[in-house]
Amino acid sequence: MGLSKNFLWGGATAANQAEGGVLEGGRGLSNVDLLPTGPDRKKVASGDLEMLEWKDGYYYPAKEAIDMYHRYMEDIQLFAEMGFKVYRMSLSWSRIFPNGDDLEPNEEGLVFYESIFEELKKHNIEPLVTIAHFDVPIHLIKEYGGWKNRILVDFYSRYAETVLKRYKGLVKYWLTINEINILLHQPFVGGGIVFKEGDNKLEIIYQAAHHQLLASALATKIAHEVDSENMVGCMLAGGSHYPYTCRPEDYQEAINRDREGYFFIDVQARGKYPNYALKKFEREGLNIQMEEGDYAILAASPVDFVTFSYYCSRTVSAHPEDYAQATGNLFPSIKNEHLPSTEWGWQIDPLGLRNSLNQMYDRYQKPLFIVENGLGAIDIPDENGYVADDYRIDYLRKHVRALKDAVEIDGVELLGYTTWGCIDLVAASTGQMSKRYGFIYVDRDDEGKGTLNRTKKKSFEWYKNVIASNGEEL
Ligand code: BG6
Repeated sequence: MGLSKNFLWGGATAANQAEGGVLEGGRGLSNVDLLPTGPDRKKVASGDLEMLEWKDGYYYPAKEAIDMYHRYMEDIQLFAEMGFKVYRMSLSWSRIFPNGDDLEPNEEGLVFYESIFEELKKHNIEPLVTIAHFDVPIHLIKEYGGWKNRILVDFYSRYAETVLKRYKGLVKYWLTINEINILLHQPFVGGGIVFKEGDNKLEIIYQAAHHQLLASALATKIAHEVDSENMVGCMLAGGSHYPYTCRPEDYQEAINRDREGYFFIDVQARGKYPNYALKKFEREGLNIQMEEGDYAILAASPVDFVTFSYYCSRTVSAHPEDYAQATGNLFPSIKNEHLPSTEWGWQIDPLGLRNSLNQMYDRYQKPLFIVENGLGAIDIPDENGYVADDYRIDYLRKHVRALKDAVEIDGVELLGYTTWGCIDLVAASTGQMSKRYGFIYVDRDDEGKGTLNRTKKKSFEWYKNVIASNGEEL
């Protein structure tokens, strides 16, 4: 009983939400740099060409974020103090290829990540590196239309090959594309896609999906050629869908909604388009351009492990009138009266994590890795600046119990667990700093004010002990 002694405990961040330094080190701009806070964030996120440059009167939180660009040594030191075995982070594509289509990479960008990996190595922390976490260089959007253009497969492959070769021996665990199914819900964030009047949006989205799936398979192939030790994973925005009632059509809706996400992982993990997707393309008249040889590329390089983020489950119905009380943000969900919610309406469901692990393990029979999980909450420091975040400890404790049950009782193969936003960072959906996930408090507010100083919260000591006891003391 118990988790394996090699279980990878740690935390996760992403470049655009933590790094900042967007105008430093020869870096170019990406879609996510240009998402302001406030109501217009949604406008930009839905792909407004006019907004694809810095505008006066807006605050862009990614510009400085939590300034990890300059403070990574201090942050890694704190992760090491908690006993992290793994740290999940992402590379900024435009830090390495500022325009995306450059023939040569930006050496300063490559050196920056090399220094991070060297620092992690000193502390025996294994990096888990996401090659693309919601970022597409702006030039690739303006010049080529983002991922809807097949040429992105070549640019991404060049980028992937560059980093895989350069960091050989320093990085073993790689993820190709973060939350690949976000493309369906936020095509600008997930794929740098801007629609024109009259576009067949769904066709464009699935065309871009085909390109990302090809690019992911090619990166997996390159990773294995560069170093046979490399382990490559795919990444899903996870969380199962529950039928609102036991009406069969609600259950069918839940299956269909699960499949919207599993579609991507089915291709990445099994190397083949599932029949239900091909039938959907046919039925809905979606004409997806594929070249001869594409199926062979997908079949040749399935991923080694399957990863996902898990924050909540979702409840769906076949009857539109049931959505009168919808909640959640990216994925609309009917309020589940059996579950409590976070301040942002995300429904807290630890057993749902165990169920998702089982569902995915049954489906893929590959090792799994929970690469994001956590509670976004408003933290109020006391007069000494200390945050007693018992609510976060409670959330995490219940989810760790659930993952242990999945491993110990159900026999799911789980490589590790990285909590999201192990240090407070910018929220992806809202751009807020006040939606905090960390064990480490960062003094920064929603307008960009604050010292950026780091302080340990109560959950810091709690998680340290969880790791030290390999999940026995919760
Ligand atoms: C996932 C993303 O969607 O959820 C992260 O991979 C994101 O980038 C996280 O930060 C939590 O969402 P939010 O909007 O609370 O930051």
